[in-house]
Amino acid sequence: MNQRLDNRVALVTGGAQGIGRAIAQAFADQGATVGVLDIREDLAQKAAEEIRQGGGRAQGFGGNVALRETFTQAVDALETQHGRFDILVNNAIWVRYGPTQDITPEMLDRMTATGFHSIVWGIQAAAPAMGRSGGGSIINIASAAGFLGIPGALVYCGVKAAALGLTRSAAVELGARKIRVNAIAPGTVPTEGVRINMDESVAARRIARTPLGRLGHVDDIAAAACFLASDESSFMTGESMLVDGGVTHALL
Ligand SMILES: NC(=O)c1ccc[n+]([C@@H]2O[C@H](COP(=O)([O-])OP(=O)(O)OC[C@H]3O[C@@H](n4cnc5c(N)ncnc54)[C@H](O)[C@@H]3O)[C@@H](O)[C@H]2O)c1
Repeated sequence: MNQRLDNRVALVTGGAQGIGRAIAQAFADQGATVGVLDIREDLAQKAAEEIRQGGGRAQGFGGNVALRETFTQAVDALETQHGRFDILVNNAIWVRYGPTQDITPEMLDRMTATGFHSIVWGIQAAAPAMGRSGGGSIINIASAAGFLGIPGALVYCGVKAAALGLTRSAAVELGARKIRVNAIAPGTVPTEGVRINMDESVAARRIARTPLGRLGHVDDIAAAACFLASDESSFMTGESMLVDGGVTHALL
């Protein structure tokens, strides 16, 4: 049976756990060959191995998304090995929340490097390879926070808003090469990364405010990523897709 991402070659950053891991699995389930890239190389290799054991095609990469060469090396390796490169998901980020007065230069540098510079380097490395493959799809994992003001999340909200702006600009620049660039803006999804930053009472308040009455699941985000990666969204570019149970639109 034909699958939506047959013969496509993809790279997912931060693919060792959480939302990135679910996207990597979903892409493989839809027929893609997936590069799973993470700063925790052991976990990236483990995720790729699990995908292969389930019958998918995957390869692990270690690397820090703050560095340009991480992307050039991974994209080169995938293109050389498989003859094409089609899909990039910029998902990895390092995040800490807290009062504005407590932000240190190190925190600011690390959040902007992993959440914003990484997308620039990812697009720069991916676009030429996608052009040689006749086009492609770049998906930036932003956040509902990119549309909102959240106390204690000054840098996070700023970085995610920047990711939405960058998405629109890249879409306009790369459209002529048939490279689509879209963003997904998830609401709260209780992943490993979120659990260390959010206690139960905050989760309960979020659920109470969410029209669909629950938090997100990693598979909700993976489903949106499959749609944006596939030809089903072939006339969409520059779009920012909220996948948040309606919470961003709920004032009260
Ligand atoms: N989970 C949520 O509630 C939520 C909501 C909105 C947006 N998002 C966004 O979704 C994305 C994934 O979130 P998550 O909750 O799955 O995160 P997570 O913290 O569970 O996983 C992030 C992954 O990125 C990797 N990583 C961190 N720094 C890296 C670096 N410098 N280089 C390479 N890999 C690195 C980590 O090792 C980890 O595997 C992020 O961009 C996040 O901002 C998440």
